[in-house]
Amino acid sequence: MKRSKATDKTNHYLAMRRLILSAMIGLPLALLISVLSISYYFFTYSIESGTTSSMVRIVEDHRHMIDTFLQERKADLVFVLRSYTFKDLSDPQRLEHVFEHLQEKSNTFVDLGIFNEAGVHVAYHGPYRLEGKIYKDTKWFKEVMKSGYYTSDIFLGFRRVPHFIIAIAKEEQGRRWVIRATIDTYLFSNLVEGVRIGKTGEAYLLNAQGVFQTERRSGGHLLEKDPETLQFPARGGGIRTFVQKDARGEKYLYATTWLREKNWLLVVRQERSDAFKTLSTATYLVLLVSLLGGAAIISLAFFLTGRIVGRMKQADMEKRSLSEQLIRASRLAELGEMAGGFAHEINNPLQIIRSEQALIETILSDLKNAGELKESKDLAELEESMDQIRLQIDRCAKITQSILQFGRQSESSLEEIDLRAYIPQVTAMISKKASVHGIKLVYEISNDIPRVNGDPGQLQQVLINLLNNAMDAVLSRHGTEGGEITIGAFGRGAEKVVIWVKDNGIGISAENLKNIFRPFFTTKPVGKGTGLGLSVCYGIIENMGGTIEVESEKGVGTTFTITLPAEG
Ligand SMILES: Nc1ncnc2c1ncn2[C@@H]1O[C@H](COP(=O)(O)OP(=O)(O)O)[C@@H](O)[C@H]1O
Ligand SMILES: [Mg+2]
Repeated sequence: MKRSKATDKTNHYLAMRRLILSAMIGLPLALLISVLSISYYFFTYSIESGTTSSMVRIVEDHRHMIDTFLQERKADLVFVLRSYTFKDLSDPQRLEHVFEHLQEKSNTFVDLGIFNEAGVHVAYHGPYRLEGKIYKDTKWFKEVMKSGYYTSDIFLGFRRVPHFIIAIAKEEQGRRWVIRATIDTYLFSNLVEGVRIGKTGEAYLLNAQGVFQTERRSGGHLLEKDPETLQFPARGGGIRTFVQKDARGEKYLYATTWLREKNWLLVVRQERSDAFKTLSTATYLVLLVSLLGGAAIISLAFFLTGRIVGRMKQADMEKRSLSEQLIRASRLAELGEMAGGFAHEINNPLQIIRSEQALIETILSDLKNAGELKESKDLAELEESMDQIRLQIDRCAKITQSILQFGRQSESSLEEIDLRAYIPQVTAMISKKASVHGIKLVYEISNDIPRVNGDPGQLQQVLINLLNNAMDAVLSRHGTEGGEITIGAFGRGAEKVVIWVKDNGIGISAENLKNIFRPFFTTKPVGKGTGLGLSVCYGIIENMGGTIEVESEKGVGTTFTITLPAEG
């Protein structure tokens, strides 16, 4: 029965602990996580949109630069066309002169050639031997004859080297002729590639079929097909950004747009992890903060829960102990009452017996005086018996009297107490116990102590408690040899009376000294100490308008000092 009660209690504490723990961990953790995830979400969003828009800006600028380059080269050729006639430029020396002039403006020109209406290469200045070759059936020639202007994709042509050309036709006296220049692919490639974003950023051009028009840094050669098929944006200047995996499975952030001058697609791309580097740092930071915060919350929760449940256990224990004390106290009170009633009941017959005995004694002495009873041995024995009976009756009367007195003690009564007589009287009660245990009781009571006003029963309780504690302390240090308790009293002026009890017992540690007046504080084994003695003393002395103080040194001894107001 007792055991199941105990496990009930343990379960109760466990449940309580679980409840407090889950509340203390759950709520702050949920808050922490939601705050972190919300801020992480917004942070991610702003980083992503920031990175994307800077990518868009780079693509725009780059497109503008490449378009401007192509426009300028075209304008160069238009300027030559306007300044010279077909005849002028058919002269190789003139052509060389013009070429050199062009080179001064931009060294990306590789060669320059003039074609007549029939597609015959009339004059050429450049590193190849192309004069006389007929271009009538080539795609570019047809195109330029038709629309007057043409920029090619990269191609190999007669010379078997990747290149691209710009060609412009002119109408002169009803005849068309064409000027064509080749652009240095590598210089042009450099121009396009010249974009630096992070570690992995790169730019390149694709034609409408997805064939490289410039080299790509991360792999991809001129005239090869781009292994990644990109979703091309709509023509008309829009910029498209997206994330896509490449052939190796690496995620890239792309921004693409069509050039204005030529149907080439400008692609700028950067590895996603590189582009969003701050994001991964932020991710680690968020993880770290969550871990640390979580750990802090959890350990704090465990710590606090431990304390709270511990306090609760202690409070419960004190409550239980208090109720046990109450039960014991009420049982004692009942016992006192019963004893009182009992003593009262015994007292009456005792009085009757006593008067009867007195009567017998009177009759006996009357008979003796009248000479009706002779002196004899039997008579002497009878008289002795009578004495014995009287003695025992007196003793019984005394006992019942004192029991009755004890019962009445609970009602406190104020009396003037003369300590000189009172103290030895009270301590006499324990002097027997002291001498049995070999403890020396010493009195140091000065002659002129003012009287104090108080309840003698209560003051007695105080002194008995102090003396009992002192005897316990002395016994645990010395056993039955060498213990000494001094009890003293003196007047301090006319206003104060000091009573002190000093022992040479085990003493009290500084730690315990703070607690000894607390109810239920005891260092004694269960059944021996209740921890109530000193708290009761404290209450009584306080009630009397006095103070109780203690001084102690561990292993040396203890002195309790009571100061009471003198009766004035
Ligand atoms: N004279 C003393 N010497 C040493 N320790 C003492 C003395 N008086 C009291 N104490 C300490 O104070 C505690 C509380 O005393 P008390 O309230 O009378 O309760 P109890 O005697 O039932 O333990 C004791 O357990 C003991 O540790
Ligand atoms: Mg005690």
